Amino acid sequence: MNPVGVFDSGVGGLSTLAALQAELPTERFVYFADTANAPYGERGDAYVIERSRKVVEHLLGAHDIKALVVACNTATTAAIHVLRAEFPTLPIVGLEPALKPAVATSRTGHIAVLATRGTLASARYAALRDSFAAAATVRPVPCDGLVKAIEGFDSPAIAALCARYMAKAGPFGDGPGQVDTVVLGCTHYPLVKDELQRHAPPTLRFIDTGAPVAQQTRRVLASLGRLAGDGSEGGLVLESSGDPAVLEAAAARWLPARAQGASVPAANAI
Ligand code: DGL
Repeated sequence: MNPVGVFDSGVGGLSTLAALQAELPTERFVYFADTANAPYGERGDAYVIERSRKVVEHLLGAHDIKALVVACNTATTAAIHVLRAEFPTLPIVGLEPALKPAVATSRTGHIAVLATRGTLASARYAALRDSFAAAATVRPVPCDGLVKAIEGFDSPAIAALCARYMAKAGPFGDGPGQVDTVVLGCTHYPLVKDELQRHAPPTLRFIDTGAPVAQQTRRVLASLGRLAGDGSEGGLVLESSGDPAVLEAAAARWLPARAQGASVPAANAI
C-alpha cells in the first residue's frame, strides 16, 4: 500500500503524526517538514498556497501518496481549497482550531484560541468563530514568534512567549467570565503544552486536534478502501526541506513511536 503524506511548515505536525501513528499503526507515513520555508503563519496566503502546492507535488511525485494530511492549521485555512481543486483525485484531510469540542465542553462559555496570526485572520477561521458566537465568548490570541522559537529549540524564548500569550488568554478559572478551555490552534503548540500549563491552574483544559484528525483520516481511508491491512507493518519516512538534523532531533524528542536509527533525507530542491 502507498503511504499517507503528512506535512507542516516544520516540526509542529509531529504532534498530529503521533496521533496518526497511534490510530493507524499499520499505515506507512511520509512526513515532510518545510523547515527551510517556515514559519508560514506570519507570511500571508499567497506564500502559504505556493509552498503547500510545492510540497504536495513533491509528495505525489516522489512517494505516490494515497492520501494527504495537512498537519498545519495555517496551511489548511490558507490553502486547502486550492489543493483540493488542483489535486482532485487526492483525498485531503485538513485541520482547523477545535472550537466545536471546546465550546461543547466549556462550563463557563469562555474559551481562548492560541493560533498563528495567519490562521486567526483567515476567512475559514472567521466562519468557524461566527458559527459559535452565540454559544461562547472566544478570545483569539495570535502567538507571533512561538513557532520560530519551537523550531529553534529556543527554551528561554519558548518560556517567555508561553508566559506572554497565556497572560493574554486568561484570566483562567471556573467562575463567571473566566476562561476554562484553551484551544491549541497550531500544531506546534501541543509540543510545548507543559510550558503553557505552567501559567494556568491544573483545571484548565487544553484541546488539540491530533486525535480527531487521526480518526477522520481512518474514516476517509476506509471509505475509499485504502486502509492498510492488519498484516501491514507500518512505517515512517521523515523528510525536510531544511536541516535534516533539526527534524531528526525533533522526532526523537516529540514522536513516541520514532524508529531508532533512521536518518532524515534533505529535500532542498522543492
Ligand atoms: N504548525 C503550523 C500551524 O498549525 C504553524 C504554522 C507556521 O509555520 O507559522 O498553524
